[in-house]
Order: sequence, then structure tokens, then C-alpha cells
Amino acid sequence: MTPRTISLIAITVATLPAWGAPAADDTAMLRLANGSGCMTCHHIEPGAKGPDGLAPIGPAWRDVATRYRGSPGAADQLTRTVMTGSNPYSSHWKGKVSGLAMPPNEVAIKEADAHQLVEWILKLEAAK
Ligand code: HEC
Repeated sequence: MTPRTISLIAITVATLPAWGAPAADDTAMLRLANGSGCMTCHHIEPGAKGPDGLAPIGPAWRDVATRYRGSPGAADQLTRTVMTGSNPYSSHWKGKVSGLAMPPNEVAIKEADAHQLVEWILKLEAAK
């Protein structure tokens, strides 16, 4: 590494907090969610309606965070559900959503990306 490269790295690291790391993360994760089709069925904020004014198709992601945050293994378990789909015979959101089950998303998203997205979802704060 040349001294110039090293000083560039130093500048980058020094300016990171000023950019607001969470916001950069939000943008990347929202882009991933939109690009992977998640947002056709999910909203971030609770209370949004689905098609025809019914309950939304899938649970709001802030509600997902509230429900699973802090429960051991949640990130791994939810990543598996995202990849392989949910079980329509044991719905976790029965009565709260209009979708019967989540189809497998493995055609739309890589497992590592899904894991990252789920970790981000679990960090969302509850709606105020
Ligand atoms: C076709 C609609 C649809 C799409 C697309 C979809 N979901 Fe879902 N999702 C659902 C439904 C319906 C549920 C509720 C399942 C249940 O009741 O157990 C759900 C549940 C979830 C849950 C909670 C699972 C649980 O066990 O409580 C997470 C996390 C989730 N989705 C993330 C995602 C992510 C990430 C994507 C994009 C890669 C995605 N979903 C794409 C419909 C969808």
C-alpha cells in the first residue's frame, strides 16, 4: 500500500460516522427488498392495507421485529422461512394478514442476502 492509499483509508474511516451508517444500510436493504419482490406483499409500517382494502398480504416488518426480536435463533429460522416459504397449515400471522402463506423466495434472493435482510428487519424499532 502506498502512503496515499493509507491516508485515503484513514479519511474514509474517519468520515463513516458522519454519513450516518444506519441510513446507508437502510437504503441498501430497501433496495434489496424491493429488487427481491418482498415489497409486493410486505410493508415496513403497520396499518397499511393490502389490495382491495383487505389486511396486508404479509405482516409489516416492524411487527415482525417486535414479535421475534431477542428470541434465540430467530434470524436463522426466519431466513429459512423466507427461502423455503411458510407453512399454510400453521400460519404465524393468521387473522392479521390476508395472505395464506409466503411462497418460497429462493428464486428471487440469495440466502446470504436474505439473512442480511432478516437481520435488518429484526433491528427495526416498533412503530410509535
Ligand atoms: C407473495 C407474497 C410474499 C412475498 C413476495 C414475500 N412475503 Fe414474506 N410473508 C408473506 C406472508 C403471507 C407471510 C405470513 C406467513 C404466516 O402467516 O406464517 C410472510 C411472512 C414473512 C416473515 C415472518 C415469518 C414468520 O414465520 O413469522 C418474514 C420475516 C418475511 N415474510 C420476510 C420476507 C422477505 C425478506 C421477502 C422477500 C425476499 C418476503 N417476505 C416476500 C408473504 C410474502
